[in-house]
This record gives sequence, C-alpha cells and structure tokens, in this order.
Amino acid sequence: MSSFKNKVIYQVYPKSFKDSNGDGIGDLPGIIEKIPYLAQLGIDMIWLNPFYKSPQNDNGYDVADYKSVDPMFGTMEDFEELVRVAKKHGIELMLDMVFNHTSTEHEWFQKALAGDTYYQDFYYIRPPKADGSLPTNWQSKFGGDAWAPFGDTGNYYLHLYDVTQADLDWHNPNVQRELFDVVNFWLDKGVKGFRFDVLNVIGKDEVLVDSTGNASQEKSLYTDTPIVHEYIHAINQASFGVAKDIVTVGEMSSTTIQNGILYTNPEREELSMIFSFHHLKVDYKDGDKWANQDMDFAQLKEIMDEWQVGMQEGNGWNAVFWNNHDQPRINSRFANPEKYPFESTTMLATTIHFLRGTPYIYQGEEIGMTNPNFDSIEDYVDIESLNAYQELRAKGLNNGEAMEPIKAKSRDNSRTPMQWNAEPHAGFTTGHPWIKVAANYPLINVEQELQNGRTFKYYQELIRLRKKLPIIVEGSYRMIAKEHPSIFAYERVWDNQQLIVLNHFYEGETVIDLSEENIDWAKAKVLLTNGEISKLQDTLTLKSYQSLVILIEK
Ligand code: GLC
Ligand code: CA
Repeated sequence: MSSFKNKVIYQVYPKSFKDSNGDGIGDLPGIIEKIPYLAQLGIDMIWLNPFYKSPQNDNGYDVADYKSVDPMFGTMEDFEELVRVAKKHGIELMLDMVFNHTSTEHEWFQKALAGDTYYQDFYYIRPPKADGSLPTNWQSKFGGDAWAPFGDTGNYYLHLYDVTQADLDWHNPNVQRELFDVVNFWLDKGVKGFRFDVLNVIGKDEVLVDSTGNASQEKSLYTDTPIVHEYIHAINQASFGVAKDIVTVGEMSSTTIQNGILYTNPEREELSMIFSFHHLKVDYKDGDKWANQDMDFAQLKEIMDEWQVGMQEGNGWNAVFWNNHDQPRINSRFANPEKYPFESTTMLATTIHFLRGTPYIYQGEEIGMTNPNFDSIEDYVDIESLNAYQELRAKGLNNGEAMEPIKAKSRDNSRTPMQWNAEPHAGFTTGHPWIKVAANYPLINVEQELQNGRTFKYYQELIRLRKKLPIIVEGSYRMIAKEHPSIFAYERVWDNQQLIVLNHFYEGETVIDLSEENIDWAKAKVLLTNGEISKLQDTLTLKSYQSLVILIEK
C-alpha cells in the first residue's frame, strides 16, 4: 500500500496555532508544545504554512528567504527540534513551497532592481506596449492590474498575486536550479512532505499576450499549460522523487480532471496528489466569490462525483478536504454549527474521510471551530478581503452590504487563533493576538472538547478506521442515490467488503431507499454514525446532518 494513501494530514497555520512568547503571534515552539495533542488525535503528518522570512504582506506567501525561519516564528534550531519531537510522536512534517513568486524583498528581486541582469532574468520583466500601456491586460488574483513598475526603469514586472509577490520565470534554468535546491535543503532537515503553492500557474508562455478580458479565458493563458507538467517532473527528479516515501501535494487553481490525472498518476512521476477547488465554489453566485448564494447541493454532488470517478479511472489521487487557510470554515458555510455543532462538523468530516483520497484536517476543525462573524472590516487583516471590501464599496454597496460576502468568504474566517481553553484569547497567547479570537471560544475550545465533547473523539475514530480498514484507502468508489435531494451517498468496494456512506446535508428528517442496491442486510453493521439508527434495512431515516456508514462483509 503506498504510504501517502493511508495518511491523515493535519494543517497547522503557524501564525494562529499557539504563541509561546506572548508577542501575539503563533510560533514553532508553540507547535512543539502541542505535538502531544496532535499525536492524541492520531494524525500522521503536519502541513505547516510558510514560516520563512517574509514581510507578511500575504501572511508568509511572500517569501523573502526560502531557507530561513522568520524570527517571528522562532529559529532554525526550533525547527530542527520540531522535527525531532514530531518524529518521537510518529508525526512527519510537510512544508509549503511557494515557487510561483517571491517577495519583492527577496534578495533576487532586490539584486534585479539594483540592475543585476542575471537576476532580472529570474522574473517576468517586460516593457510597456508601444502605446505606453501595460505589457498585457492581465488582472491580479487579488484585484487590480497584474503589472507594477519595475523601479524607475520604465519596465514592469508581473505579479499574478499581490504587488509584493513577483512571479518567477521558470523558463530560466537558474530559477529551477535554485528552487530544486530549496526542496533538497528541507529534505536534508528531515522534512517528509511538500505542499506546492499555486503550482499549476508556474508555466507562463515566454511571449505574454493580452486576454480577451474574460476572466476564465485569461486564466487559461497561464494555467495547466503543458510545460507545467515538465517543470513538475523536473522538480520531482531533482529532489523529492529520488528520496524515499515523500508525500507531495500541488495546490491547483481552476484545474481539470484531465490535468489532475497527469499530475498524480504515478507513472508520470509528478506529485502524490493535488488540491482542487471546484467543490468550494458552489456558493459563489455566478462564479463570483464576493456574491453570496446558498450552497448548490446538486452541483456539489456532481462535482464530487466527477472528480472521484475521473481520478479513479485515470489512476490519479485526490487530496480530500473542506477547510484550509484560504477557505471559510465549512461547518458555518454548508451546515448549521450554532444549532447542530456536533452533527454539522462530523457529517462534513465523514463525507470527506470515506472518499477515495487522502484527507486533510485544518486546525480547529476537530473541535468544531466556526467562522468568527466579525462585523467590522477593522477586524479583518487579509489583503484579499481588504481589497475585495474596497472594490465592493467602490461598486456602490454600503458598508452592511459589502460586509455580507466578507463575513461569509474572507480567508480570515479560518485564520483566527486556535481555541485552546476558556482563558483570555482562548489560551492562544498571553499577549495581544495578531487577529481577534472568535467570540465563541468559551464554549468551543480544546480543553472543553477533550473533557465533554464528542467531535474530537469522532475525528479520532475516523482516523483509527482508516488505519484499520484497507477498504477506506483502496476501495473503489461509486455514487449511489444520485437523485437524492439532500443526501450525498456513495459506495466503496474492496475485496469481499462493501461500505455504504450516507451523509445528510440538511436540517430535519429525510428518508433514503436503498432497495436498488440489493444489500444483504443480514451481513451489514453500523461502522460509524453521528446519530442513532434503529434498524438497518432498505429504507433508512436520517436526522439533521446525520451521517451513517455501513459495513457489509460478503
Ligand atoms: C495560495 C495560498 C494563499 C496565497 C496564494 C499566493 O493560494 O494558499 O494563501 O495567498 O497562494 O501565494
Ligand atoms: Ca510568538
């Protein structure tokens, strides 16, 4: 069994996990302190968001030195200690490699600015068009133009993200060599996994051309281009691919199943798995993140099913997840954690953990943390949210109207401090936290959860079952009850076993009829549920946000 398939990966957002020195910012010693907690949960690997030297304009995704620890997070010795302590607890580390761009404070960019042509070739620096306009009409993903003046040279540099995140030119072999070296540097430190940031946009053409002005046509000019696969194969062969048992995951923005297969089919020697995001856009109105609509459940089922089936047929592999540092909390988003805190969180978790793929848990998910619902734009920090708010206001929305999508979609929803206990600032810091703590921390926190809660225990059970039953890892996937309006149901089959996984995404009772499946109920038992079930039979009634997993031994 390949090792990356049976792992459960836990994402730590270092800035918000645990502050050890009272400066209000989470740090590496804070993570070390909490390793026993993560070991208790049972996870195998921790993905750490960037902790490298950075001006923090995009919370560390603007890297100024790939081989360093930013003093605000600790020291290199702290990192080495973290590797040791984690290993003692059977936990490995996955680091975040931000290779599409560097911070404009990176030495390479600074040298380029100072006139060093060797380093100018590291970036996309282009003259304006003959009429003096920008080199292309591309838009930054964080709002505004994707080009900014390159010093006072009259030229411009490309930034698909923030203006302080300059895109690297992967056509340049010197860029590749430097970046491969970064991966090897961390491999030497005992790192066993890598998450590659926005990896499928590194393959721009050498000659950049205007888009039609249509956003998706524009993305296609630089997303999933054939050369990206060559670049990824090259990283693989120059670093992690020649080491043993390294887990890799690429963050793929607006990708396709066809490319997902190419990225992850083992024969291609690219990556272990990818993150895709289509299932997290079903509450975007007409594709617009900053316009709210209720989750489109039929569409959600369809997307999940297409990806499961497609990747299975092409022997690809998915990372399965709902939450991360860029997404609002899924329980607040797709369920009702105020009224059904346990059921909402665990139903969504069940849906993911039994799918074909490697599950990720985002910090706080295992105790049912929710969106903070901050009312004032003053409480938000994230550059994308602040830009979006300005744009919404400029479009004529009043404060209240502009705040609605911000509250629902801001990336800060998941970036509020981890809630450890009921002490001030949720026990995250003794100082003043860099971002406010969610007000519900006296109720929702680790201490409380471990004493009286059921959510953490349920997650422990999900992880334990994955270790125990190969069907969860290896089984084939097929959707059942496709037309059911409120249940996402699927089957996994392996050897002489069958799993039926039913997830009710709404409040109230619903009935599902499984007679078409010809299940031999005498051989069935409840493997897991977050509610109660009286008798296993063809017609089953599920309560609000109930999940039911049935194991049938043939
Ligand atoms: C990824 C990261 C996100 C960051 C962006 C630019 O999407 O997850 O946090 O802002 O890349 O690096
Ligand atoms: Ca600190």
